[in-house]
Amino acid sequence: MLPIISVVIKALWLMLPAYIANPTAAIFGGGKPIDFGKKWHDGQRILGDGKTFRGLAGGAACGIVIGLLEMQVATGEPFVIPPITGVIALSFGALLGDIVKSFFKRRFGYERGAGLPLVDQLDFVAGAWVLAYIVDPKWFIENFTLPIIITVLIVTPILHRATNIIGYHIKVKKEPW
Ligand code: CTP
Ligand code: MG
Repeated sequence: MLPIISVVIKALWLMLPAYIANPTAAIFGGGKPIDFGKKWHDGQRILGDGKTFRGLAGGAACGIVIGLLEMQVATGEPFVIPPITGVIALSFGALLGDIVKSFFKRRFGYERGAGLPLVDQLDFVAGAWVLAYIVDPKWFIENFTLPIIITVLIVTPILHRATNIIGYHIKVKKEPW
């Protein structure tokens, strides 16, 4: 396999739990918001109605299920076997990154659903990486090499945009971003 193709495949493979957790949160989302509808000192919602317990639990569960499947079918480079710690960290981290982003969006006065280019597309990547690094630093450093990181940063905004346009048309998402 051409080295560049191998890097792209490995990047997508490694990120798959996070890539699944983020959109499935939108599918399962709804119900009680994580901030319980409460406001911050600035009078704005802490997180807003777009961050719900169902989205968090459903998204994390889907990401973890995909990771467990990857662990079963992995055949070796570029389809490496992810550790369960990494799978859980990437899934939860993706959703935590999205939640932290919403917290700051509200503090800067952006309403729920307001688009922030690049931030909306990479929040979950940052969250997934930070939590994976905290939970399993050895695995993270060995696998998320510079070429992998650069590939993810380039490919994710494209995938994210495509997914959200689909999500918008099937009425899972209110906005196409
Ligand atoms: N969602 C959820 N719980 C989460 C994450 C997402 O319920 N933890 C659902 C919500 O229905 C949300 C949709 O997925 O509206 C799309 O997610 P996102 O674009 O991240 O939220 P926004 O509604 O755009 O809110 P924000 O401005 O806070 O990003
Ligand atoms: Mg949004």
